[in-house]
Amino acid sequence: MPKPIFLIGYMGSGKTTLAKKLASKLELPFIDTDDEIVKEIGMSITEYFQLHGEEKFRELERKQLLKTAQQNAIVSTGGGSPCFFDNMQWMNENGISVYLQMSPKSLFDRLSQSKPNKRPILIGKTEEELFNFITEKLTEREPFYQQAHLIIDHINTPIDDLIILLKKNQ
Ligand code: S3P
Repeated sequence: MPKPIFLIGYMGSGKTTLAKKLASKLELPFIDTDDEIVKEIGMSITEYFQLHGEEKFRELERKQLLKTAQQNAIVSTGGGSPCFFDNMQWMNENGISVYLQMSPKSLFDRLSQSKPNKRPILIGKTEEELFNFITEKLTEREPFYQQAHLIIDHINTPIDDLIILLKKNQ
């Protein structure tokens, strides 16, 4: 039965970039659940959060995740996705989950350069607040991320090695 490969991890850990590379190398479709949500709601995630709040966003996120069932695709998920409902368990039962682990310092370096329209929970923070927020949220989310089938340091792992790992876990 076809099954998706879910890339999970904190905002800024490079899920989308790696998912696109893997999809192209493996000749599989690429799905970004955030992009699917944006297509459905017709506005940015930040606007949606401001209008309807995080809880409604998490419901949309869940719905998009469930749509990936039985698809032979590389799926880039939102950073919070594994931590709501039973999403993490669902991903593990319906596909292969891969945690892109990264230190708070590396995440901070990457996120301090990123655009805010996709990441409402980071808006309006000073550099110090951002670093503290990343550290706290990561500690809170780590128990979910750690449940992944594979945990990788993708920045220092050649893509062909990742593909070998993925094939072993299929
Ligand atoms: C979120 C991460 C974002 C997006 C939303 C919430 C989070 O996705 O889903 O802003 O709670 O970590 P990325 O991880 O792709 O940035």
